[in-house]
Amino acid sequence: MNILIVGGGGREHAIARKVSESRRVTKIYCAPGNAGIEEIAECVAIGAMEFDKLVAFAKEKEVDLTIIGMDDPLVGGIVDVFEAQGLRVFGPRKNAAIIEGSKAFSKDLMKKYQIPTAAYETFDSAKEAIKYLETAHYPIVLKADGLALGKGVLICNTYEEALDGVKSIMLDKQFGEAGNRLVVEEFMTGREVSVLAFCDGKTIKPMTSAQDHKRAKDGDQGLNTGGMGTFSPSPFYTKEIDDFCKKYVYQATIDAMKKEGRDFTGILFCGLMLTEKGPKVLEYNARFGDPEAQVVLPRMKNDIIDVMEACIDGRLEEIPLEFYDNAAVCVVLASEGYPEHYEKGFVIHGLSAFEDKTDYYAFHAGTKKTNEGIVTNGGRVLGVTATGKDLREARKKAYEATEWVQFSNKYKRNDIGKAIEEA
Ligand code: AMP
Ligand code: GLY
Repeated sequence: MNILIVGGGGREHAIARKVSESRRVTKIYCAPGNAGIEEIAECVAIGAMEFDKLVAFAKEKEVDLTIIGMDDPLVGGIVDVFEAQGLRVFGPRKNAAIIEGSKAFSKDLMKKYQIPTAAYETFDSAKEAIKYLETAHYPIVLKADGLALGKGVLICNTYEEALDGVKSIMLDKQFGEAGNRLVVEEFMTGREVSVLAFCDGKTIKPMTSAQDHKRAKDGDQGLNTGGMGTFSPSPFYTKEIDDFCKKYVYQATIDAMKKEGRDFTGILFCGLMLTEKGPKVLEYNARFGDPEAQVVLPRMKNDIIDVMEACIDGRLEEIPLEFYDNAAVCVVLASEGYPEHYEKGFVIHGLSAFEDKTDYYAFHAGTKKTNEGIVTNGGRVLGVTATGKDLREARKKAYEATEWVQFSNKYKRNDIGKAIEEA
């Protein structure tokens, strides 16, 4: 089969690597891809939002299956565009991807179908939001309704902070149109866990759990980022919690979407908070997590193409989804200053150390090939990942491997997976 992957970050590199292991795949294309993906796929300079060009490319190259890695094209309706042209594509249609595209939509869905989540209110006007915030309990959480690169969430400790937050989201439009509506949410405490699941519209099969580290600095300090590192599985995600979520969150969500006429096919990502009162949904995404995919996919036994095709054809029920009884840790090597201001274009040394290893991976996120070699090309540069027999071993190996790679400006968190010591 010929496969096209749409996206160009660490997640898409992890997807491409997994796809490359499929016995059914002969050729992989990636648009736009990056320097790491280029080693296993032919990268083509088409942007993820250039739907017409992507369709033309898929036709020309006789692509049998297109896999959409990123949120923007999904929310923008790329799956509908491909399907209308008779092309096979993996991901939710526009009317289902809204579960990620609008936080107000997802909160209303959870309320209507009694899926556990934080209490909330939605506002279309800054004036009304401010009035509500005058008498609210603090801390409180403000969320821009639309897509904001995982950065549209503000946790406010005081009314003054919330006031600033409303101004920047709704009036100054820090996140653009995403801030036309605002969700104000009850603040929850607990451990976070991400569970990604394959869905075929009616059946949902969760993968092994993972935990992300969203803040930029050690000890969960600093600004929210796209994710600074992950580990899988989460030792805090017990069998009891899994049983609860399968019934009251995962299946309930897929059933709710079906009832709304928005059958969900693709990857449903459930961000959960394990609170004292049980698991609650923090957010949904309509795609693999980044950097969750980097620790979950290397642990998956199945041929990913078999599973994706079963989702598209509505026969996921037949597939036993299996994961190795091991663990994985991913430490993101970022550019100093991310997620705000940082420099790029620095040569990356040491990548060849990963070449002959089967249990170490350097997933590329922001990298570019130049005449001087592979250079940094983004805030998150690499997702250095290792598998091991357990989390301790995987963590030790991943941190060792972060030393193999050198570039100016290299920054990482030193406490990715540290929480496992408390498990
Ligand atoms: P989201 O993009 O909705 O997952 O939010 C980003 C991060 O903000 C989450 O991973 C949490 O760490 C935090 N967060 C979001 N909603 C809440 C909440 N209601 N209570 C506490 N923290 C939250
Ligand atoms: N790691 C969080 C996300 O992909 O949204």
